[in-house]
Amino acid sequence: MDAATYTLTTDPPPLEEYLALRQLTGLTPKRAEQAGPALANSWAWRTVQTQSGQTVAMGRVVGDGGWYFLVADMATLPEHQKKGLGRAVLSALLDEISDRAPAGAYVTLMADLPGQRLYEQLGFERPTNGSISMHRRIG
Ligand SMILES: CC(C)(COP(=O)(O)OP(=O)(O)OC[C@H]1O[C@@H](n2cnc3c(N)ncnc32)[C@H](O)[C@@H]1OP(=O)(O)O)[C@@H](O)C(=O)NCCC(=O)NCCS
Repeated sequence: MDAATYTLTTDPPPLEEYLALRQLTGLTPKRAEQAGPALANSWAWRTVQTQSGQTVAMGRVVGDGGWYFLVADMATLPEHQKKGLGRAVLSALLDEISDRAPAGAYVTLMADLPGQRLYEQLGFERPTNGSISMHRRIG
């Protein structure tokens, strides 16, 4: 990530930019009533901003602060991808877990295809014990 072009922050994105980032990167769109608590209640955030203050990349950790942490909302606007922003965001989030959480933290994520190589490069592994990811929506 070019530090002269981009700034990495620990702030969540503004609500409208969060909704736009999800939509423009092909993640499932969310509503404001879903976004508000996501912005307010996550354990850690990282966003990348341009000089003009536009949020162009983000990622967050939902966690209990003890041992269980979920990486979510990894997204970089298409025109800013492949410049190391996703790596900077995830590396910083993992560093924060390492700094703030007791040793032995378990970090999990749902690895969509665009992020899989990046996640592997940062130490994430596929389960080897037969575990699979399962999910459902409610309502
Ligand atoms: C996944 C995602 C967040 C990655 O963001 P990103 O900012 O492009 O990530 P990075 O730039 O750090 O790394 C992505 C690739 O660019 C490469 N790259 C990094 N800096 C580079 C540079 N200066 N020049 C060329 N390539 C570079 C990385 O090596 C990596 O390559 P790889 O895919 O072959 O491993 C982004 O692709 C995205 O938003 N995708 C759509 C939404 C999505 O699917 N999110 C994941 C949900 S799990």
